Amino acid sequence: MAGQYDIGVIPGDGTGPEVIKEAIKALEAVSKRFGLNFLFEKFDAGGERYLKDRTLLSKKELDELGRMDAILLGAIGHPDVRPGILEREILLKLRFELDLYINLRPVFLLPGVKTPLREKDPDNIDFVVVRENTEGLYAGGGGFFKKGTPDEVAVQESINTRKGVERCIRYAFDYCKTRNRRKYLTLCGKTNVLVYESDLWYRTFHEVHNDYPDIDIGYQHVDALCMWMIKDPEQFDVIVTNNLFGDIITDIGAIIQGGLGIAAGGNINPEGPAVFEPIGGSAPKYAGQDKINPMAAICAAHMMLDYLGEKKAADVLLGAIKKVVKNDLKGLEAGKMGYGTREVGDLVAKYISS
Ligand code: IPM
Ligand code: MN
Repeated sequence: MAGQYDIGVIPGDGTGPEVIKEAIKALEAVSKRFGLNFLFEKFDAGGERYLKDRTLLSKKELDELGRMDAILLGAIGHPDVRPGILEREILLKLRFELDLYINLRPVFLLPGVKTPLREKDPDNIDFVVVRENTEGLYAGGGGFFKKGTPDEVAVQESINTRKGVERCIRYAFDYCKTRNRRKYLTLCGKTNVLVYESDLWYRTFHEVHNDYPDIDIGYQHVDALCMWMIKDPEQFDVIVTNNLFGDIITDIGAIIQGGLGIAAGGNINPEGPAVFEPIGGSAPKYAGQDKINPMAAICAAHMMLDYLGEKKAADVLLGAIKKVVKNDLKGLEAGKMGYGTREVGDLVAKYISS
């Protein structure tokens, strides 16, 4: 049925459940206004469950999640679980098993939001990073040799397949075309040092460009690009890059757009499901205090509407987000918004309905 969607919800750990509640509040407000019908199905993966019964994400859960139209994720991460376990067995597992090969990270400064870049305003910061999400150094290749001895060797391999690189680059060109802003795609790599990996990316980038003559292209080394994101972010429209570089540069992106209170991302398989999330993490010290900013989770819900093709609903939600940020919030950081978590969600819902 048109307008009916199965949405998997993984509230997760720490402040995850609180922010997800507000994202759902916003989605319910838009569904009322636009006659959409979201069927939310909750999955309780995360640190709490792992500590209780040592389960992470079962095959059955993954299959069920794979059948959803989209998935909303709060946060995964628990102070009592050794770093790496939840990340690998839940977050990365979702990416790999559901083949969510795009990590899409819009970076935009909204009017009224403070950026650490004191000379920049919303006209200067508006670009999107397309990060490859299933290969590179994240593929887990490598191993130890003579571990624990003075002769120890650690090898961490970066796996880059032609297929994986090409589908990511194609997505970025398509995205740049539809976004229809400056029609300028930048490849971020390190061709001067990573002579195999960046070579494959560079060649593929130029080959695929033949199919997109209306898009202009540029190339930057990742270190220089980090500088330019801060000094001259207005030069960027869409950036495409590998998994690790994308991980790093999108944290710079998050901070120049106002921080983790607003930054969201999508892990996308263009033909399959997609996981949308605030990128801030579980912030356990704020859990249960009604202090965390749910705006990033609400922005994730906005990305989800866009992905589902519900453009009108997405626009109205974005409009409401902009109003709350500009008219109501005193700041975006936890405890500094002038409102509680639930009140921020109420404000968004109010603007959607009015
Ligand atoms: C992100 C996160 C993850 C990553 C971690 C938690 C594994 O930093 O989504 O950017 O490195 O991809
Ligand atoms: Mn990251």
